Amino acid sequence: MKKNKNRHELVEKNTFWLIVFTVIAVSFGGLVEIVPLFFSKQTTEPVEGLKPYTALQMEGRDIYIRDGCHVCHSQMIRPFRAETERYGNYSLAGEHVWEHPFLWGSKRTGPDLARIGGRYSDEWHRVHLINPRDVVPESNMPSFPWLETNILDGKLTPDKLRIFRDFGVPYTDADIEGATEAVKGKTEMEALIAYLQSLGHALK
Ligand code: HEC
Repeated sequence: MKKNKNRHELVEKNTFWLIVFTVIAVSFGGLVEIVPLFFSKQTTEPVEGLKPYTALQMEGRDIYIRDGCHVCHSQMIRPFRAETERYGNYSLAGEHVWEHPFLWGSKRTGPDLARIGGRYSDEWHRVHLINPRDVVPESNMPSFPWLETNILDGKLTPDKLRIFRDFGVPYTDADIEGATEAVKGKTEMEALIAYLQSLGHALK
């Protein structure tokens, strides 16, 4: 009994060993939670029906990031009743396996957008993005009028798809070759709306 107590004292009075054992204890707890996720199908395989972003949706996603939409909007529905009643089924890891990086976010100045696809018409989004107050009078979301006049040239679009393919997203050579042509001359507005309309499409 006495011997044990002394051993414990040794750890408590020696900062080096205290740090070493604390790190071991904490990493064990972390590893037990995290490591199985790397091997679980539920978190590594795409849900049935998941489609890679089209070239236009991919450009839209980049505009979403550039203009900071993710700073006010999350894309992750938590498994709570208050959330699922409002936004639909809670988010699954398999819906996001092809996202690099994922845009779950945590700040919700505006509503979650994980399942916004199909909820409004393209025209609603267009009017809303040019001036949110035209459709939601009390909105404090900023206006994004330049989306309507900025035209995509598609020069970098093939590279964007190629990088995603390197990460394991199943793009074909034809997808990549046709990427510039698919977005060239389209407005940023068209691309962003195509992206928004695709969100949450996989889980029906
Ligand atoms: C400063 C914070 C802020 C930023 C940045 C922002 N939003 Fe919003 N957004 C809001 C708020 C607040 C609302 C709720 C009021 C409304 O509908 O306008 C909203 C609503 C929305 C809605 C309607 C959601 C629903 O379920 O009714 C969409 C779609 C949307 N935003 C898209 C975007 C996109 C795309 C961008 C980037 C181009 C963006 N937002 C940037 C704050 C923001």
